[in-house]
Amino acid sequence: MAEAPAPGGDLFSADPLRALATLEALVPVIEACRKCPLGHSRAHSVPGEGDATAGLVVVGEAPGATEDETGRPFVGRAGKLLDEILAAIGLRREQVFICNVLKCRPPGNRTPEPLEVAACSPYLHRQLELIGPRVILAMGLPAAHALLGGHAALGELRLKLHRYRGIPLIVTYHPAALLRNPHWKRPTWDDVRHARRIYDGASA
Ligand code: URA
Ligand code: URA
Repeated sequence: MAEAPAPGGDLFSADPLRALATLEALVPVIEACRKCPLGHSRAHSVPGEGDATAGLVVVGEAPGATEDETGRPFVGRAGKLLDEILAAIGLRREQVFICNVLKCRPPGNRTPEPLEVAACSPYLHRQLELIGPRVILAMGLPAAHALLGGHAALGELRLKLHRYRGIPLIVTYHPAALLRNPHWKRPTWDDVRHARRIYDGASA
């Protein structure tokens, strides 16, 4: 029930992204972005993909090598696992919207730097504003911190219903973390079932 202040939501700052009225309109802007050094090192930007009117948005951390090659989110090993996680709650990736905090790959998949998150997160905020989902699934700490602020550990953030600009938000493990620690799979499945209940219209 922690209500975080809306990051990047200053009414008085001129936000050029507000003029972009569709998810598609964001794509070339993201591709042309050089607001942080990652725009120079990556092969392809990875804006995100899926249903523009999705009831569920999945937010990961940043593109990895396969995503950088293809320009598509969650298509490597972690992506295969994400597909399984979604299947467990009866959803195909086409039925949700999948994106990341960072739209460009950090070299060697290192953790996003605060300046990169600050430069890139306006795209994520605008995507969420345009989609207006019923529930957001934040996978891993970078997604949780970018959307909720703060520095809490994953164990403190799980099992709570958060709100991002009024939208219910569930925090769970990142699929890549599950590849390293399969014993986190079961709690992740519990978390996504919680998200599915909200998606289905359970009062949140
Ligand atoms: N990990 C992420 O966080 N996002 C992707 O798109 C792929 C792997
Ligand atoms: N710690 C993290 O930062 N992320 C996870 O997904 C799990 C543990």
